[in-house]
Amino acid sequence: MKITLSILKADVGSIGGHTKPSQHMMDSVQADADAAVQSGLLIDAFVGHTGDDICIVASHTRGENDTDVHQFAWSAFLKATAIASDYGLYGAGQDLLVDAPSGNIRGAGPAVAEIEFDHDPVKTNPMRPAESFMVLAADKCGPGAYNLPMFLGFADPMYCAGLMLPRIGEGFTFNIIDMDNTGGDSLISLNAPEDYYKITVLLRDNERFAVESIVSRYSGQVAAAISATRMHNIAGTYTGKDDPVALVRNQGIFPAPEELISPYAKAHFIGGDARGSHVMPLMPVPINTAVTGMYCLPLVSCVGFSLNKDGKFADSFADFFDNPAWDYVRNLAQEKGISMRSQGWSGAAMLPYGELEYSGFRTSIGNLVERFAYRNGKESSAIPEKAGAADD
Ligand code: 13P
Ligand code: MG
Ligand code: MG
Repeated sequence: MKITLSILKADVGSIGGHTKPSQHMMDSVQADADAAVQSGLLIDAFVGHTGDDICIVASHTRGENDTDVHQFAWSAFLKATAIASDYGLYGAGQDLLVDAPSGNIRGAGPAVAEIEFDHDPVKTNPMRPAESFMVLAADKCGPGAYNLPMFLGFADPMYCAGLMLPRIGEGFTFNIIDMDNTGGDSLISLNAPEDYYKITVLLRDNERFAVESIVSRYSGQVAAAISATRMHNIAGTYTGKDDPVALVRNQGIFPAPEELISPYAKAHFIGGDARGSHVMPLMPVPINTAVTGMYCLPLVSCVGFSLNKDGKFADSFADFFDNPAWDYVRNLAQEKGISMRSQGWSGAAMLPYGELEYSGFRTSIGNLVERFAYRNGKESSAIPEKAGAADD
C-alpha cells in the first residue's frame, strides 16, 4: 500500500509569553486527531509540542497536500486558537496567516513536511523490511536550522559511517530551495558526494537556502522532507519564527538514527532565539519542552516511531533527546549561548540587517538612517538597501 506521513505544526498561542501551549489546547488538538482517526481520515496520529509549537504527526493513504488532511489540521489549530483566545494566551492564532485556505495549507503559515512511499514491511522486502522514521521539531529557529545536521548526516562519513556501505554509499540527492524567491518554489537538485562543495556553498546561508528534501540515489526513495518557508516572506512582516519541522526515514537504505542525530552534539549556531533576531546555539530537548530558559535558546526535539503494516505508529515512541547523554550538549549549548550573549547586540551576536526578522528593528534602523546627512550639507536619501547606490 502507499502510505503518507504528514507533519503539520503551528504556534497558535502559549502561556505566559511564547513558552508552551496550554494543556487545554493540547487536549483539543489530540481530541481532533483521535476523531480524524475514528472517522477513517487518518490511520494514526501523534500530538506533541516543542516550545510553543503544536505538532501533529499523522499517517494516512491520501497522498501529499491532501485537502482533507490539511483542513483537519487547520481546523484543529483554529479550535486551539479559540481556546488560546478565551484564556488570554499570548500569540493566539500566530501562525495562521491567511483567513481560510481552501485546499492544502502549505504557505498559509503552519510548517508542513510530508512523504508518500510504498509500504510493505515484510522480511523479504529488500528496500524497507521495516519502516522507522523520526520527526524533528524546532522552536525559536530560522528556516535553515537543519541545513548543517542534515548535510552531515546524509553526506559526511565522519558522521554517517553508513555512507561507506554499498547501498547508502551511492549517495543522496539534496533538493535545496531558495526561500528568497517569492515568485514560487525555486529548487535546485545537487548530488552528494560529487556536488559536495556546491551543496555547502548554498547551505552555509541558513536564512536563504534550505534543504527541502533528500532522496536516496540507490532507491529513488525520499529519505527526508523539511518544511522550508520564511514566515516573513508569507506574512510580509515578522509574525514569529519559522520553527521548521523535518521528517526523516532511517535505517537500512537510509542513515541510522545515531548517524542522523550526532551532528546535533555541536549545538551549532543558527539564526533565531529572542525576537527571531539573534545568532544562538541549537539545544536538543525532549518533546513537550517549554521555552523557559534564559535568552529563549533555539530548541529542537526528535521523536522516533515505527510503522506497522497497517500504518499505525502512535502507541509508543522513542524520545531521542530525552537521554542523559544530551545533558552534556544542553550544557554546551547553554555555555555557547552565555558566551555569545555576553556581547549583547554587538556584531555576530545578532543577525545582520538583511536577516533581521523582527520588522521593528528594521524600522528603528531605517528611522535613524533617514536622519543621516552629508557633511557638506547635501541632503542624504540613503536607506540601508540603497546605501551602496549613493553617488557621492
Ligand atoms: P515564536 O515564533 O516561537 O513565537 O518565537 C518568536 C519570537 O520572537 C521569540 O522571541
Ligand atoms: Mg510563539
Ligand atoms: Mg514557536
